[in-house]
Amino acid sequence: MASVTLSGIRKIYQDAGRTRVAVADLDLAVNDGEFVVLVGPSGCGKSTTLRMVAGLETISAGELRIGDRVVNDVPARDRNVAMVFQNYALYPHMSVFDNMAFSLKLRRVPSPEIAARVGEAARILRIEPLLEQRPRQLSGGEQQRVALGRAIVRQPAVFLFDEPLSNLDAKLRVQMRREIARLHHALGATMLYVTHDQAEAMTLGDRVVVMRDGHVQQVDAPLAVYREPRNTFVAGFIGSPPMNLLAGEVVDDGGLRFVAKGGALALPLPGAWKAALGGPRPVILGVRPEDVSLAALGMTGVPARVDLVEPLGQELLIYASAGGQELTARVAPGVRAEVGLDVLLGFDPEQLHAFDPDSGERLPTPRSPLPTPPRR
Ligand SMILES: Nc1ncnc2c1ncn2[C@@H]1O[C@H](COP(=O)(O)OP(=O)(O)OP(=O)(O)O)[C@@H](O)[C@H]1O
Ligand SMILES: [Mg+2]
Repeated sequence: MASVTLSGIRKIYQDAGRTRVAVADLDLAVNDGEFVVLVGPSGCGKSTTLRMVAGLETISAGELRIGDRVVNDVPARDRNVAMVFQNYALYPHMSVFDNMAFSLKLRRVPSPEIAARVGEAARILRIEPLLEQRPRQLSGGEQQRVALGRAIVRQPAVFLFDEPLSNLDAKLRVQMRREIARLHHALGATMLYVTHDQAEAMTLGDRVVVMRDGHVQQVDAPLAVYREPRNTFVAGFIGSPPMNLLAGEVVDDGGLRFVAKGGALALPLPGAWKAALGGPRPVILGVRPEDVSLAALGMTGVPARVDLVEPLGQELLIYASAGGQELTARVAPGVRAEVGLDVLLGFDPEQLHAFDPDSGERLPTPRSPLPTPPRR
């Protein structure tokens, strides 16, 4: 087991005379035994970062340490890391056992030890009955387990995962996600995991690193990323459906209010916002769909028209427009809503977010705290 420390890590690709910064000055300290997830849209530099840690890609600048050792120039095979890829790339002509044993044989590990390590990995992954099968006789989920097994038998200091579940169907993904969480728990190993699936990021990570265009946007515990997104990008990326973001202004005309651009939508704000914002100013107001409700008649709310209703069984998503703004509400499944219906939308004033319209950075407005989450 080991920590992984990236200091000012940069990757520049020279491509037909063009220079492309794939990863820009990345600082990240992954603790020994920690599960850190890199998440972000396609092309943001997740795989490049992981491949630099694995030693599959050269590092343009900065320092990479695994444990106390600087490994910038250490070849991949001497870094004591194991990587699991999206396409598990098993050897088709070898049995499951031999696929898992292969790297150990290359290293001339004695046969009894190979048998013991493969047996132990197969037990952890619950694939003992499959050891004599060939990969083509296995389901996608079983093949992915074998790929995990190949990594486990090497007893690496660090596990690296690059979208290991994205070839699996939705149900299997959720199941394998649990397997990986269980594996982390069982091995207590340091894991760095790349995905663009935010559900994986939120459920697996001790901490989540949100990236965009080669730059880190936020590094935090999953709930902190969700509750206190540092900027509008993170606010819009983490959470499904995403946070409602409304451009407008905070005005003080007898009471503090938010007025959306164009003036068609207005809502009262907690008085404490005045001091926090330093007075009236333009903002982007953020509100999560679960903090929008259908207000009862006679209550204050924003008049809106329902555009679309998605009954998901355990909840109902309502997409509505109010004064040219699109808004999403996540409400209880029994709430009555139909397309074309005029409704009043209520906003939980204690759960609003505010961002600077120019920089997109979060503004320090007060929000009511969440009860202390259970310890992981
Ligand atoms: N070998 C290469 N040569 C030139 N540019 C590259 C190379 N590999 C990656 N890039 C560029 O670097 C950027 C980051 O790529 P990377 O593969 O790290 O993205 P990613 O976050 O893993 O995306 P995805 O979610 O699609 O896998 C991209 O813009 C990509 O085009
Ligand atoms: Mg990638």
